[in-house]
Amino acid sequence: MSDQLLFQPSAAAVARTHINAAQYAELYERSIKDPDGFWAEQAKRLDWISFPTKIKNTTYEYPNVSIKWYEDGVLNVSANCLDRHLATRGDQTAIVWEGDVPGTDDKVTYRQLHERVCRFANVLKANGVKKGDRVTIYMPMVIDTAVAMLACARIGAVHSVIFGGFSPDSIAGRVNDCGSKIILTADEGRRGGKTIALKKNVDEALAKVEGVERVIVVKVTGNPVNMQAGRDVWYEEEAAKVDADCPPEPMNAEDPLFILYTSGSTGKPKGVLHTTGGYLVYGSLTHQLSFDYQDGEVFWCTADVGWITGHTYIVYGPLANGATTLMFEGIPSYPDASRLWQVVEKHKVNIFHTAPTAIRALMGAGSEFADKHDMPTLRLLGTVGEPINPEAWLWYHKHVGKERCEIVDAWWQTETGGHMIAPFPGAIPTKPGSATKPFFGVQPAVLSPEGKLQEQTKAEGVLVIKDSWPGQMRSVYGDHERFVETYFSQYKGYYFTGDGCRRDEDGYYWITGRVDDVLNVSGHRLGTAEVESALVAHPKVSEAAVVGFPHDIKGQGIYCYVTLMAGEPSSDDLRAELRNWVRKEIGPIASPDFIQWAPGLPKTRSGKIMRRILRKVAENDFGALGDTSTLADPAVVDDLIANRQNKP
Ligand code: WTA
Repeated sequence: MSDQLLFQPSAAAVARTHINAAQYAELYERSIKDPDGFWAEQAKRLDWISFPTKIKNTTYEYPNVSIKWYEDGVLNVSANCLDRHLATRGDQTAIVWEGDVPGTDDKVTYRQLHERVCRFANVLKANGVKKGDRVTIYMPMVIDTAVAMLACARIGAVHSVIFGGFSPDSIAGRVNDCGSKIILTADEGRRGGKTIALKKNVDEALAKVEGVERVIVVKVTGNPVNMQAGRDVWYEEEAAKVDADCPPEPMNAEDPLFILYTSGSTGKPKGVLHTTGGYLVYGSLTHQLSFDYQDGEVFWCTADVGWITGHTYIVYGPLANGATTLMFEGIPSYPDASRLWQVVEKHKVNIFHTAPTAIRALMGAGSEFADKHDMPTLRLLGTVGEPINPEAWLWYHKHVGKERCEIVDAWWQTETGGHMIAPFPGAIPTKPGSATKPFFGVQPAVLSPEGKLQEQTKAEGVLVIKDSWPGQMRSVYGDHERFVETYFSQYKGYYFTGDGCRRDEDGYYWITGRVDDVLNVSGHRLGTAEVESALVAHPKVSEAAVVGFPHDIKGQGIYCYVTLMAGEPSSDDLRAELRNWVRKEIGPIASPDFIQWAPGLPKTRSGKIMRRILRKVAENDFGALGDTSTLADPAVVDDLIANRQNKP
């Protein structure tokens, strides 16, 4: 091993782990040499109505990309997350809920959750939902949201969960794209002491969408909302009309389970499609092994269920494993920066999982908030969503983990369904800032940007994956060609992740961030093209170019160059107006940090915007602008530098 900062697994982690270092090496090799044998064996962790005889049937060959796992298997995801646990752990807590308001909490056992899911499933059926129908879920972090997801899975409906921070326009686009006729929402959500007008946002969205026949509203805050007769119904009233007997629908392993929209480098967000069997095998296996989850432990992932992390590591992975999973409605800073640590102590959390942006924000608030709490039950800390800087990793290790907890930095994506590169606790020594080694069945490779395979261990370039794994997305909903073009056309024969990486002399992977036009703002994925199209939709804007810049807390911030319509005066008021406009078009997560008025954008003679230059100006790195002589008007650059924004 190199002499970089290296943390050996603790003796406690080694003693308890499911997989030790030798087993990791042996099983990893087997998973690559004999994927059929390995993944057939892993499939046994689920209950199948009909066990698959065909295991892997995948090709990355352009343009005939096709991905199928367990294709003749039959199972039901909700039965795997609920019914099969009833005999052994019916009275065990399945979900612990901690409310935004300190002191509010709730919990459900597996038996209660099963009953609630069956009832919700019958409500869906009574409202016309059939197998294969798409159901949009725009709900806050309450137990009923997990119930709604599982209810869809129970009857074979395909859910599309939309994060509660997205705007009416974003909802409308997603509802339209998947042709969903039904929306599940709540009156309002709570977050950080504020309420979020979920139903009102749905109403605004539906003014722009045809074909939605039913909106089912769950009561959360109880504040009055508008109910449109004939379209909107209260969940509680519907639930009173049905019973709680709902047999799970037998599903083929390749039947769709859910769609989750995510941003790419071009165009509108794509509907990432995940299917039933492979997703659940992979989600439950990674949940068990990457966190070394052991029976009876309390597992807390702070993500929102509106993101993939919430799907796989709040709902499906933990529940398939019969775990106790914690759902938190609030935010790390409310009422103050000790909230997460109070919740850890209150619910005796063993495994805690959050994002680097939260760690950096809490670190900035002062270590005393974490230092006040011993958190004796904690034994493992996860970090996911963006590269973690070593300072934040070390702070997390010291102040939260008290130098006693393993740290698992897991790299993965909406597209991958579950963790791809992460240290097996108790088996793989960690290095702050590195996601370390691949999970079973995952074959990462490093290519030069031109596509040359870097065979030597120490390498740097773009990160691709050589072959399929069961949790991989199957398609872009309604647009298989876009799937093939986005992920398999640039580097033939590989899945292209969109990330850059470095592999060190020990074969450890260090993710360096996106190499495409995708931003990662506080762990949220956002396409620069989405922000640009929101800006140019404003009547006073003629052109816009958006780039990311390094941000201490958010990881990346949003820097916008805006050219106004001829004769339109610029002002700080207009800046504020545009910022609000983007929030309204996309949602608060897309709020620009900087808006710079740019009378001209740096373009090549063929009219292509040179983003490289815009990025350098935003980063305040004028020495590295590179060759500007190919620009149609090189003077534009001087103006950009002279007017660079350094205050919001
Ligand atoms: C980034 C979130 C470094 C990466 C699960 C990826 C990370 C994108 C890590 C996917 C990590 C995620 N270290 N970067 N541990 N985890 N990323 O789809 O750029 O919301 O491509 O999935 O987040 O974001 P997504």
